[in-house]
Amino acid sequence: MDLPDIDASAWAELETAAVDPQSGFRYLNLCSVDTEKRPQARMIVLRAADRSARRLEFHTDTRSPKWLELSATPHVTVLGFSAESRLQLRLQGKVELHGPGSGAAGTAWDRLPARTRMTYAGGPPGDERAFETIGVAAPADEAEGKARFGLLIFRASTLDWFQLRQQDNRRALFSYDETGALSSRRWVNP
Ligand SMILES: Cc1cc2nc3c(=O)[nH]c(=O)nc-3n(C[C@H](O)[C@H](O)[C@H](O)COP(=O)(O)O)c2cc1C
Repeated sequence: MDLPDIDASAWAELETAAVDPQSGFRYLNLCSVDTEKRPQARMIVLRAADRSARRLEFHTDTRSPKWLELSATPHVTVLGFSAESRLQLRLQGKVELHGPGSGAAGTAWDRLPARTRMTYAGGPPGDERAFETIGVAAPADEAEGKARFGLLIFRASTLDWFQLRQQDNRRALFSYDETGALSSRRWVNP
């Protein structure tokens, strides 16, 4: 495969992962820096991918620490590994935050299944929870969840593609311009 084909296949895998829960890139690591410049990382579900815009979408609770971190510093790394294709994808770029009340968050919310909406109905992520409430279904109001729901739109500026092989690992770097067009590509030593 030549470099443009490798880039296209990496994005095709991401598009597949957004609709296939079994895909290796369904759960990605979203890495940010906090307000004290310390690295932070967490797994996140890939909700949508668009190869032409080099865009990924994620959902989160706007009460979570990451929302504040990303508001202050939108530069992130998105890291994934698929055991099936033995590929590591390391993307760098920026996130746009679409909070409750925004059209984009409203549209994403409307598409969510009821059980997923309920994940936004509990207390603030990271706050202490009384042991007695664990496993007990609390009465939940969907509208409350909507008021906490946030959409993160990530736009990649670079992709570091790494294929783990028995011998001769391969690695290539790609850059994208603001429109998402491939602006540079090269093989590098793994
Ligand atoms: C497999 C997996 C998928 C997850 N998906 C999401 C997700 O889509 N959105 C989200 O906000 N948190 C998700 N989480 C929880 C986060 O990893 C994290 O624990 C939580 O969001 C709090 O992160 P923060 O304290 O950095 O804000 C997921 C966790 C796991 C294990």
